[in-house]
Amino acid sequence: MTVLVTGGAGYIGSITLRAIRASGRAVVVLDTLERGHRAAVGDAPFVQGDIADSPLVERLCREHEVDEVVHFAAYKAVGESMENPHKYFSNNVAGSQRLLEALHRAGIGRIVFSSTAAVHGTPDSVPVRESDPIRCESVYAETKLMIERMLSWYGRTTPMRHVVLRYFNAAGAATDGTLGEDWRFSENLVPHVMKALIEGTALRVFGDDWPTPDGTGVRDYVHVEDLAAAHVAALDHLARGGESVTCNVGTGLGTSVREIIAVTERISGRPVPHGIAPRRAGDPVACWADVSTAAEVLGWTATRTIDDIIASALAWHTSHPHGHDS
Ligand SMILES: NC(=O)c1ccc[n+]([C@@H]2O[C@H](COP(=O)([O-])OP(=O)(O)OC[C@H]3O[C@@H](n4cnc5c(N)ncnc54)[C@H](O)[C@@H]3O)[C@@H](O)[C@H]2O)c1
Repeated sequence: MTVLVTGGAGYIGSITLRAIRASGRAVVVLDTLERGHRAAVGDAPFVQGDIADSPLVERLCREHEVDEVVHFAAYKAVGESMENPHKYFSNNVAGSQRLLEALHRAGIGRIVFSSTAAVHGTPDSVPVRESDPIRCESVYAETKLMIERMLSWYGRTTPMRHVVLRYFNAAGAATDGTLGEDWRFSENLVPHVMKALIEGTALRVFGDDWPTPDGTGVRDYVHVEDLAAAHVAALDHLARGGESVTCNVGTGLGTSVREIIAVTERISGRPVPHGIAPRRAGDPVACWADVSTAAEVLGWTATRTIDDIIASALAWHTSHPHGHDS
């Protein structure tokens, strides 16, 4: 089997690429490299190009005899999506529409898609279930929801089946220290904790007066290698004829900002400089996943801990303070 991995030169895509190859599948990566790195793809077959280039996608599927697709390629910055909505609707939504059109023409029937827990906005209750109300609070989240809806309609009108994976907070790096995130292009907490630790610039903690045990926001941090394994489980599910499904991908546990800082200080043996800033509008107080669908349908559960996340991130960011450009 050959898997087309769109966005495979990015953070999650490159780490998942390894897991897909380790599952015995052949791969081909399609990435513009606008926000990814050629080095992250290693010796996997690679094509520099855009998902919106339907003739290229169709040709690539035929030449590489692609049967499965894992679709990561997208822009992911919430703030940027609010300043520049057309950029996100164009790349994420219109680009995915062109991709799906090409995949349909090439007869591809199985796709795994990177969505986000952010489609729920501020959840009414935790743990968050897939069936809970959908209430996007950013253009970014809306683009992911629109792609979910396209996949759903393709599922009803064509033989294409899908697994939508709604990630909670992806974090950590490859355990061998060779792949990870770039804090220059990330809005996520863990890379910014690492930046504060390594560069000494104070981390801003947005609010310490939330109604949580220590007053800081609580999130579900899932190790990127566990996330990678979820994609392989999703491909396996579709390959054995499984029906289309939407699954939360998290640990089912909530961890506060202060806890992340404390674990980082314990593992590194150094203080993380930080200060308290006002709450940010739109930030949920607490958000963690109900992970029962992924366990029941895909047979997947996260196995790595917050310590594993912090230890791997520390090793990666210490040796690669400027990501793959270091
Ligand atoms: N990082 C997270 O915490 C998180 C959480 C939820 C969902 N996601 C989703 O997971 C996916 C991967 O996220 P990531 O953190 O690895 O992001 P990333 O920016 O590191 O990787 C995205 C990759 O897609 C490529 N790309 C973008 N537009 C493209 C296009 N039109 N054609 C081809 N390639 C294109 C970029 O060059 C980059 O290499 C994204 O779809 C993102 O929305 C990420």
